[in-house]
Amino acid sequence: MDFTPTEDQLSVQRVARDFAERNLAPKAAARDVSGEFPIAELRELGKLGLLGIAVPEAFGGGGMGAIAYSLALQELARGDAAVAVAVSVTNMVAELIAQNASPALAQRWVPRLVSGELVCGAFALSEPEAGSDPGAMRTLATRTATGWRLSGSKQWITSGDHAGAMVVWAITDPAAGRKGISAFVVDGKAPGLTVARLEDKLGLHGSSTAQLVLDGVEVDDDAMIGEPGRGFALAMLALDGGRIGIASQAVGIARGALEAAVRYAGERQTFGQPIIKHQAIGGMLADAATWLDAATLMTLRAAHAKQQGHPYAQLAAMAKLFASEHAWKICDIALQVHGGYGYVRDFPVERALRDVRVTRIYEGTSEIQRIVIARNLIRGSM
Ligand code: CAA
Repeated sequence: MDFTPTEDQLSVQRVARDFAERNLAPKAAARDVSGEFPIAELRELGKLGLLGIAVPEAFGGGGMGAIAYSLALQELARGDAAVAVAVSVTNMVAELIAQNASPALAQRWVPRLVSGELVCGAFALSEPEAGSDPGAMRTLATRTATGWRLSGSKQWITSGDHAGAMVVWAITDPAAGRKGISAFVVDGKAPGLTVARLEDKLGLHGSSTAQLVLDGVEVDDDAMIGEPGRGFALAMLALDGGRIGIASQAVGIARGALEAAVRYAGERQTFGQPIIKHQAIGGMLADAATWLDAATLMTLRAAHAKQQGHPYAQLAAMAKLFASEHAWKICDIALQVHGGYGYVRDFPVERALRDVRVTRIYEGTSEIQRIVIARNLIRGSM
């Protein structure tokens, strides 16, 4: 299996790296303190074509596929993980709409999402009592003369307060269980849609996490993505792709932290030599570099399978599980190598450790990834 990046994919990666090094990394520490949402940066990323890299060209996207997308997202996360997650959710939402909605609905929303005009997208699936188990959602869609009225609340919605458009899941047929859930495109400024709370988080301070209340939000019939009752399966499909995004984000954060640790270990002297020459430090960094390489390859392998149109849910779950768990360990090693300096804000590894922690939780916790992987094993998929 050859998933060596092509020249085109490498050129998207270079554009993302250049943008991240010039516009994201220098401001990341300040954004972590201020919590300022990166509106200008997202608009700029839209102009550069980096908000919809994997979105079909017919809807204004780059049509570059999952490998270019993963490579670019790794670079953005290396610069500022808070910006990368907004990009990742926007791309996931845009792909979901482009590939599954009617052409008219897709044309209405996707070009404006990927151009940055709407700033970003949001994925409103989870609820206060339905996170790992979205089938237990309560948000209800009731019939009106021309469409549906949505009522309920959504929890942990990345960019929920800034998204110009979001996909909202709601029950359209309460008797049908998971097959009674449908997905709708909702205007971020729709009357009745309010932000009830913004979370105060351990990390990713430049990314907002909102609790949303839908109090009779009216949508037209044609706002539904696909057929009634297809919403749960659509959420699962979107999350398969989303998990490649989060694996890429974890890889990018870990790479930035490891680079900082190697740099520091080459400069910092103890007992008369750079600390990287002490076997205890060199060994930790060697483990971290090995895990990072494995995580990168697993992420690109999942992206390659997606791009080739092969089944990839299992590979995406494995990549997300391995990348997020090991990125956390890599960031911890990077902090440890810095000693006391790692624990203070003057060096970037303290922020990396806080930012990377959530990759083990969102878009399916590590425990959920193991469920997905084990179920695929039972079905005979290795
Ligand atoms: N692709 C397509 N269809 C799928 C699918 C997939 N990957 N996985 C399941 N389905 C279909 C099944 O085939 C089944 O359809 P049938 O009834 O026709 O057979 C249906 O969906 C129900 O499947 P399950 O019985 O497997 O469903 P389940 O309730 O047992 O759940 C689960 C399975 C994998 C645990 C799922 O609940 C899950 O992924 N949970 C985690 C949710 C999650 O990741 N949430 C993150 C929210 S987004 C986020 O974090 C926001 C952010 O902003 C970053």
